[in-house]
Amino acid sequence: MRTIKRVSLGIKGLDKLIEGGVPEGSTILLTGSPGTGKTIFSIQFLVHGAMNKENGLYISMEEDVNRLKHYLEATFAWPLEKLEEEKKLLLLRTEFFDYEKFKLMLETNVEKIEAKRLVIDPITTLSLFFERPLDIRRSLLDLDRLLKKLGCTTLLTCEVPEGSSSISSFGIEEFTSDGIIILKYYVGNLPRSLVIRKMRATEHSSDEVPFEIKRNVGIIVKNVTKS
Ligand SMILES: Nc1ncnc2c1ncn2[C@@H]1O[C@H](COP(=O)(O)OP(=O)(O)OP(=O)(O)O)[C@@H](O)[C@H]1O
Ligand SMILES: [Mg+2]
Repeated sequence: MRTIKRVSLGIKGLDKLIEGGVPEGSTILLTGSPGTGKTIFSIQFLVHGAMNKENGLYISMEEDVNRLKHYLEATFAWPLEKLEEEKKLLLLRTEFFDYEKFKLMLETNVEKIEAKRLVIDPITTLSLFFERPLDIRRSLLDLDRLLKKLGCTTLLTCEVPEGSSSISSFGIEEFTSDGIIILKYYVGNLPRSLVIRKMRATEHSSDEVPFEIKRNVGIIVKNVTKS
C-alpha cells in the first residue's frame, strides 16, 4: 500500500489536525486578511524545515526582506541570519514584475539551496505582472505546473480583504492548490483562529480552532480536542 509522506508545518498543535502534516510536495494556500499572521506562519514553516534538514526558500513579493528578518529575529528569536549563513534558508524579494524572470528566479534559487520548502508571500502580487485578468489566470496554472516540477512543499499566501468571504485573490488558486488554511482575526477580544478549508488526501478537522501569536515562539494552535 502506498503511504503519503507528511511534512510537519512546525506550528505547535496544527499537525495533529491534519494527520501529522501536509502531504509532501503539496501546494497549500494560506489565506487571510491583513495582519492575520500569514507571513509569521510561513516563515515559521521554513525555519522548522531548515532546522530539520529541509532547506527553505522565501520569496517576498512586497516586504523588504532585511526589515522583515530584523523584526522576526527580534520578536520570535528565530535564527534567520544563522540559517542563511548555513545555506539552509534563503529569503529574497522580487525586484521586478516580469513573470518569466520571476519563474527563472524561483527555479534558480530552489536549485541553489536544494530547497524542499518554498513560500511565495503573497501570490496576490502576481496580478501586478499582468494587464489582463486572463493572463493572471493562465500564469497561475502555469505556476502550478512549475511548482509540481520543483517538488517543494509550498505555501502560497493569499491576501483577501477584511470581511470578504473569498478564499483566494483570483478565484482559481483554491482549485489548483492541494490544501487551504484560512487565518481569521476578529476585531475585539475574540482569539485569532484558523480553519483547514481543504487538504487533499487528508482526514482533517473542519473546526475553527483558536491560535495565538506568542513572543519568542511564534504561532501556537490552542485547545485542540482531536488527537
Ligand atoms: N509579539 C507578538 N505578539 C502578538 N501578536 C503579534 C506579535 N508580533 C506580531 N503580532 C501580530 O502579527 C501581525 C502581523 O503578522 P503577519 O505580518 O504575519 O501578518 P500578515 O497576515 O502577513 O499581514 P499582511 O497581509 O499585512 O502581510 C501583527 O499585526 C500583530 O497583530
Ligand atoms: Mg504578510
